[in-house]
Amino acid sequence: SRPTIHPTIQSIRSMRKSLDSSKSVGFVPTMGALHEGHLSLARAARAQNDVVVASIFVNPTQFLQGEDLDKYPRQLEKDVELLRGVGVDHVFVPAADSMYRKNHVSYVDPVGFDDTKEGSFRPGHFRGVATIVTKLFNIVQPTNAYFGQKDATQCVLIRRITEDLDMDVNVQIMDTVREQDGLAMSSRNAYLTADEREKAPVLYKALCAAREVYESRLARGLKELEANDLREVVEEVLKTEPLIKEVQYVAIDDLEQMQPLEKVGSGGCIISLACKLGAVRLIDNIVLQ
Ligand code: PAJ
Repeated sequence: SRPTIHPTIQSIRSMRKSLDSSKSVGFVPTMGALHEGHLSLARAARAQNDVVVASIFVNPTQFLQGEDLDKYPRQLEKDVELLRGVGVDHVFVPAADSMYRKNHVSYVDPVGFDDTKEGSFRPGHFRGVATIVTKLFNIVQPTNAYFGQKDATQCVLIRRITEDLDMDVNVQIMDTVREQDGLAMSSRNAYLTADEREKAPVLYKALCAAREVYESRLARGLKELEANDLREVVEEVLKTEPLIKEVQYVAIDDLEQMQPLEKVGSGGCIISLACKLGAVRLIDNIVLQ
């Protein structure tokens, strides 16, 4: 059956309060324009919980000046239909002025996240994410919350705030879902021209090229390799595509905290990148271990 839509905090709160305390609640926060990546989170939530809640909220505080807040794709009816298809019970769809009310002054500010590679290109972004996710957790009070590996730094952030602020929520990270040609699914893929869309799999190809180098060296018995060598492999592949107008970063980080590595050993690494394909900023990452 169709999920119940909750347009107000009061409505979702009273639903939450009416649940038996023994019931587990799985929560999938999103900004809408849903695709298989989002739905994979909702399916996992459905499989592991008694009650499943999704939220759709295009959070203004995580968009920088000049980013795509105003043109971010909005398609509520279609999204609700997709969530119905995977068995979501409740959808929280608050209005922007109800989440950030008059006199709002409180933010969750994760120290150091503007110095991560992703954060340095989007200063203030992770403060917005940390704030809205904290608010959503306070409202929904989930047992389990589901996030995608696609947004690797965001995953580290969510683990940090839940642990640092003693939130009683289990954070579950699900694999990146890709199109058949390897492009990581993203609501922003809709901005790509046909030409750019055709070339977009080069991001994943570049990451896979680094994986091959990593695996072949380890297979030959090498204990560690230079992060710079892996980075070069990725950059060389990206350079072959003229539609890539700017490579913002290619980072080789440790898996736990996403801090830069100089050498990659048996503990593996995460390779993440951001680039502009035409006017569209895309991110992707791959975990090597
Ligand atoms: P949004 O970009 O809508 O993504 C919602 C969730 O879906 C995030 O956890 C994201 O990592 C996950 N996701 C997106 N693309 C994916 C893919 N291809 N495979 C697997 N998971 C994918 O991320 C946000 O919204 C916001 O920052 C939010 C957490 C909702 C806070 O506003």
